[in-house]
Formats: sequence, structure tokens, C-alpha cells
Amino acid sequence: MIKVMNEGKKILLSGVKPTGRPHIGNYFGAMKQFVDLQDNYNCFFMLADYHAITKEQNSAELRQDTLDLAIDYLAIGLDPGKVTLFKQSSVSAHTELTWIFNCLTTMPYLMRAHAFKDAEAKNHEVSVGLFDYPLLMSADILLYDVDVVPVGADQKQHIEIARDTAEKFNRVYGEAFKLPEPLIMPDVAVVPGLDGEKMSKSYKNTIPLFVNETELKQLVMSIKTDSKTPEEPKNPEECNVFALHKLVSGADFPELKKRYVEGGIGYKESKEILFKNLNAFLAPMRERREEIAKDTDKIRKILELGGEKAKQVADKKMNKVRELVGVN
Ligand code: TRP
Repeated sequence: MIKVMNEGKKILLSGVKPTGRPHIGNYFGAMKQFVDLQDNYNCFFMLADYHAITKEQNSAELRQDTLDLAIDYLAIGLDPGKVTLFKQSSVSAHTELTWIFNCLTTMPYLMRAHAFKDAEAKNHEVSVGLFDYPLLMSADILLYDVDVVPVGADQKQHIEIARDTAEKFNRVYGEAFKLPEPLIMPDVAVVPGLDGEKMSKSYKNTIPLFVNETELKQLVMSIKTDSKTPEEPKNPEECNVFALHKLVSGADFPELKKRYVEGGIGYKESKEILFKNLNAFLAPMRERREEIAKDTDKIRKILELGGEKAKQVADKKMNKVRELVGVN
């Protein structure tokens, strides 16, 4: 038996799909909070590779994206000595439990899920896996007696589905699952992208978290602004550059605000200051990432150990479930 949990602390689980590279919107909106929470909870952090294949079906890409995501999280400060970092696919109980949930859940119930309705509305072809996504996520959560799941507001319905599913199982087969609570992450940051829309991969307006210095400068200088002259007073709340200053410009911030309101700062200068501050903030993570990425064996070992730890907890729950269902 490996020691996985600390008795005094509540249990937290979060999952992220390995699809593409993270940007600073992801970082300030979600990733950072997770790192901040790791000291206060027994944390399970899961790379949701089986969720990813509802969209991405290229083995080489999935393998690379999964490894990259593990490196990203280690680079931003997730400590594998404190959290259980693992791949969803290393613990077969996730898919096994999903099947049992499939048999307890009705189609009309799952048809109410926002993600499914959106996909339908857009006339996307919906695979059975995509339709079933919320139940795989329920299994992810319920296997670990999770107290809280830190999620963005868009994922709240999935937590409700997990709760409903837990209740239904407990009612039909007997008490096995704890009901999780969402920990809705405060909207610290709706980080605007280069064009002022919400920063998002699908809008192609992102600043990647681990971009090199030269590209970072180009991206910052390309942020969209209006055409006010340096002398004109500016409303800082209407400026995309200023929105990013809020995140990284600490000591310079009061002075910047004053110069915006009174006039006397041009967008070019504001962007130059932003680049300097953003780069100072990102450079240590970028360097750490380069260091970590050199030793892929070590990363694999971290994921293997995480997988063993997660499996130990999940298998115990699964034994109980199998007994209650009558398949042990
Ligand atoms: N659905 C989540 C997302 O798209 C990812 C996820 C999968 C997850 N399993 C989870 C999040 C379990 C929290 C808990 O962001």
C-alpha cells in the first residue's frame, strides 16, 4: 500500500483534457488556482485522455499532448510529492464504472446536458462517447470520494450530473458514493485575447503560456487598441492592454492607471511595459518547463506512480461497487 492521503484534509479532484497548448487565459482562469489549492487538499489531478478522444483521434498527437500537459503542470508548480498526478487511462475503473452508470441513466436525462445540446444545435456529428462524456466525468469524480471539484462555471452542470448519478446508484444498489460539491473558481480573470474577445483557442487570439520571448513581444505589440494619441486621456477599463496589466503589472499598476486616466501614455509604451512585466512573470515557468522536458523518463515515472496511487483508491471503491451490483 502506498500512502495516498492525509487524513485531516478534504479530497479534491480535477481533470484537464490534453488538447493543444495552454495560454495565459487558461493559466489565470484555472491552472493557477489549482496550484494554489494543492497544499490544502488531498489533490487528484487527472489528465483526461479518454475524454480527449471524444474529439482528437490521432494516437501520436494524443500521446504527445498528454506528456506535454503533464510537463506544463509540473512547470507551473504542481508538486508530484503533494498531488496525485495521473492519466485517466491508467485506471480502468473509470471506464468500467461508466458502463454501470450508463445502465442507470436514461437518454432523455443526458440529452439535457449543455455540451450535447450545443453540439446538436451546431449540427456536429455526436459520437456515443461525446454523449456519454458526463458519465465518464461522474466516474472520474465518484471513484475517489471527492469532496470538491474546482471547475469553471461552464462545468457546473457536470457536477450536478455526478451528484444525481451518485444518488441514483446509492438508491438503487446501496450506499457507495459521496456527493461532490463544485468549487466554482472565482472569475478572477476573464482574460481578453489579442482582439479583445475572451482569450480562447477557437478565436485564435491567444498568448501561449510558454511562448518564447521574441514571439511574446510580437504578440503583445499586436494587441488591438483604439487610435487615441498618447496625450489623450483613456478609460483603462476599455483597454485590452490594461486588462493584462491587471494580471502582471503589480508595482507599476497605480502609476499606469494614473497615466491612462490623465493622458500621457501611448499604447506603444503601455505594451512595452506589459511585455516587460509579462515576460518577467512567464520566464521562470518557461525555464522550468525546458528543464523538466529534458527528462521524459522522470515524467513517465511520475505519471506511473500517480497511476498506481489513483488505482489503489479507485480499485477499492470499484470492489465495493462490483459487490453491490452483483458482479464480484
Ligand atoms: N470536462 C472537464 C473540462 O472539459 C475535464 C474533466 C474531465 C474534469 N474529468 C473531470 C474536470 C473531472 C473535473 C473533474 O474541463
